[in-house]
Amino acid sequence: MLCSLNIIIRCPDEDEIANLAANLSPEVMIDQLNQRWKEHLKGFRNMLIAELDGEVVGTVSTTSLLYQLPNSLRLLALDLGPKFRRRGIGTALMEEVEHRARREGLQSVNLEVGVDNDAGIRLYEQRGYERVGNPRWVVGDLAWIMIKAV
Ligand SMILES: CC(C)(COP(=O)(O)OP(=O)(O)OC[C@H]1O[C@@H](n2cnc3c(N)ncnc32)[C@H](O)[C@@H]1OP(=O)(O)O)[C@@H](O)C(=O)NCCC(=O)NCCS
Repeated sequence: MLCSLNIIIRCPDEDEIANLAANLSPEVMIDQLNQRWKEHLKGFRNMLIAELDGEVVGTVSTTSLLYQLPNSLRLLALDLGPKFRRRGIGTALMEEVEHRARREGLQSVNLEVGVDNDAGIRLYEQRGYERVGNPRWVVGDLAWIMIKAV
């Protein structure tokens, strides 16, 4: 149950990026996380982490700059370490993003998800995200744009 987990969603400290890299999927490289952190510091993205019982186990980012839809916050780079999935932590990260969108006076959250990413699509549909138009090619992958009014 989500309520029995001690999850904190917050901005990371710089010295937590290496711990995050160690816990995430092997395909998420430390260089990528360092790049996200640089973008966070420059204000191009807002990077959040999920802390579970003192351990940094997942992340999500938002931006109002890339792929902008009017009055919409872009959610990107949602990732949980394999050991920490199916425990409601992805849901908790999404709830925080939606809360932040509402707080900023935005009307929706939008995202891209690979057409083969069944886990991601299930998570987003469960939270009320709907597909927009047809899938499009994004950096070599076919992806849906999904959006939810908040
Ligand atoms: C997709 C991802 C973020 C989900 O995070 P999570 O913490 O495991 O998700 P939650 O525990 O909050 O799951 C909420 C719901 O999403 C759906 N879901 C999540 N993982 C699923 C899976 N592997 N298969 C089917 N449905 C899944 C279920 O409906 C689930 O509810 P339930 O557990 O009550 O059945 C996680 O699997 C992940 O990090 N995957 C690799 C990176 C990725 O694909 N990110 C998304 C890029 S767009």
